[in-house]
Order: sequence, then C-alpha cells, then structure tokens
Amino acid sequence: MNLMDRIKSSAAKHKKRIVLPEGNEERTLKAADIVIDEGIAQIILLGDKKQILSRAQKHELKNIEKAEIINPLDHPNKKKYVEMMVDIRKNKGLTSAEAESLIENPLYLATLMIKAGDADGEVAGAINSTGDVLRPAFQYVKTLPGISVVSGAFIMIIKNKELGEEGIFVFADCAVHPDPTESELAEIAVATAATTRAIAGFEPRIAMLSFSTMGSAKHPMVDKVVNATRIAREMSPDLQIDGDLQADAAIIEKIGQSKAPDSPIAGKANVLIFPNLECGNIAYKLVQRLADAEAIGPVLQGMAAPINDLSRGCSVNDIVNLVAITVNQAAGK
Ligand code: ACO
Repeated sequence: MNLMDRIKSSAAKHKKRIVLPEGNEERTLKAADIVIDEGIAQIILLGDKKQILSRAQKHELKNIEKAEIINPLDHPNKKKYVEMMVDIRKNKGLTSAEAESLIENPLYLATLMIKAGDADGEVAGAINSTGDVLRPAFQYVKTLPGISVVSGAFIMIIKNKELGEEGIFVFADCAVHPDPTESELAEIAVATAATTRAIAGFEPRIAMLSFSTMGSAKHPMVDKVVNATRIAREMSPDLQIDGDLQADAAIIEKIGQSKAPDSPIAGKANVLIFPNLECGNIAYKLVQRLADAEAIGPVLQGMAAPINDLSRGCSVNDIVNLVAITVNQAAGK
C-alpha cells in the first residue's frame, strides 16, 4: 500500500467531521462525494443548500445528500459564535456588529465551528488565497501550546528510493512564514517532526539546511540556522537533528561523510528544514517539477486544530488527499 492509500485507510477508521467552506465549488463538491463514498470523513459543506444539491445533481454526485449542509447566512449557532469571536478578539477591539458580519463569511464560520467543537478540521483554498484561509485560523484557532508560528510541510515522494526514507522526504516551511527568527525556525523543526511521525509515519532525521556545512561559511544567516538547531534540541531533547548542513551533505551519504563526518544526520536526513520561505517554496516546486516528485501538502502544522490550505490550482484528488491528511491530524495520529 502506498503512503497516500495508508493515510486514507487510516482516516477511514476515525469518524472525523471536516468542514469545507467552499461548499458550492465544483472540485470541492466532487471531492466531498468521493470522501463520503470512501468513508474518509464526515463532510460539512458551507453554502446554500438548494444550490449545492442542484449542482450535485447536475454532476451526478449521489453522496452529497449525506453531507451536512449549512448556510453561513443562517447558522443556528450564529449568536454563540459571535459571542466567542468578540471574547477572543476583545483585546483587538472587535465589535459585535463586526463579528456578525464576519461570521457570514464561510472561512470565518468554519474556524469558529472548529473552535466551538462543532467540526474537527477544515480544508479550503480551492478558490480563496492562502492569506484569506489562514487569517481566521490564526485569529481564532491559534497555535498549539509552546508553538507561536504556523508553518507548512510537504511530503515529497521522489523516484530514487535510496534517498531519505525510502524515497520520502518531509520539507518545511514551504508555505506560510516568510522569514522566521531563529526560535521560530526551531519551532518549525519541532512541529515538522510531529507531522513526520503523524502523517508520513516514520521517525524524523532532521537537517537544518544552509549554504554552509558545520561552519564552512561565516554569515549571520548561518548563525541563525546554528542557533535554531540548538534551540530545537532544547525544546525537544530526543530529536535527531543537526545543522548547519548544505543540501547535498544532508541527503547524500558520501558527501555527508566527507563534509560532516561527526554528524549523525549528514547523508541520512529524511526531513529538510529550510532557513526561510523563499528557499522552502522554491525548493519544493523545483523538486516536484525537475525530479517529477509527488508533493503532498501543504500540511499546516503548529495550529491548535487542523486547518489545511489548498492551492487554487488543486485537483479533485488533491482535495480528497488533503481531507484524509486533515482527518489524521485531527485524530492526533
Ligand atoms: N503563525 C501564527 N500566527 C501568525 C502567522 C504564523 N505564521 N502569521 C501571522 N500570524 C498571526 C499574526 O500574529 C496576527 O495575529 P493577531 O491578529 O492576533 O495579532 C494575524 O495572524 C494576522 O497577522 P498579519 O501579519 O496581518 O498576517 P497577514 O494576514 O498579513 O499574513 C500570511 C499572514 C498571509 C500567512 C503571510 O504570512 C503570507 O502571505 N505568507 C506567505 C503565504 C504564501 O504566499 N505562501 C506561498 C504560497 S503557498 C504554496 O505555494 C503551497
């Protein structure tokens, strides 16, 4: 069984409720139909029930009638959510009138449903930007204890099974935080270790990437990676982590042995942490396109509840996969 099939079959064992705020969007509806059919999750669609059911009928999506469909303009718990919003954002001066308007936005409603325990996770972004999906989550669901920064990991499946974990790597941050400080970078490493265990299903060996290996270059950017490695070790003493490491020294045994002979990670890394979002985002896209790798994600990590953001170019299959991943995150697996 391949990794994605394992993730889906694990999801089917949990009865998790996943809210899809873009309920009337065609790819989302088709994905919801598959998810319900395969028992991957219980689906909550946000949108106008009549419109959703008629679109489902047009595309012969027979399972959509089994989804819960909620109209954001008319939610029975609207008053409760507005009170929660005002309470959570009281320091930011949010008024009831502002909250009443925001809660009619499906992206806000979805996060409030999760906050209130009325849903276990969310997948959105087929028609909304990353910022629009993440902002409500940052504001109302917030981060896990001990983590201040949300980041995005990709599970990269490459053809060469001799590298990484039999051809599988986890890359982060490739999606969210443009320029992390050294302690934020350490948090990203710790959060990625948890994602690796929960979703990829193996024990992480983390390389903190740089343009320097074990001090071969002197620069404040290298210092940031060295300090982040130290902080990550302090945060999680059992972590198998090392840096600064160049990408080749991190993943190629021979080069690792020659550039960093004393490193337990050099040449064996299966998790790559990039020093900033420019590196991470560019690297994952290049590996995906040049090495014809499969890129699963971004899996958002560090959030107090699983909320995942799709690319607007996503396929139906991408949505199904991300729902399955979200279920596994919700199950704390
Ligand atoms: N983790 C946790 N909280 C955060 C984070 C983060 N990474 N970033 C912002 N926040 C919080 C802020 O503290 C703030 O909280 P507050 O309102 O309680 O004070 C709130 O979120 C809003 O903060 P802003 O700085 O106003 O956030 P903004 O909405 O401007 O930016 C965003 C957040 C959109 C994620 C921004 O960092 C961004 O654009 N990142 C890049 C996303 C991107 O384009 N990725 C590449 C494409 S994705 C792909 O290719 C797969």
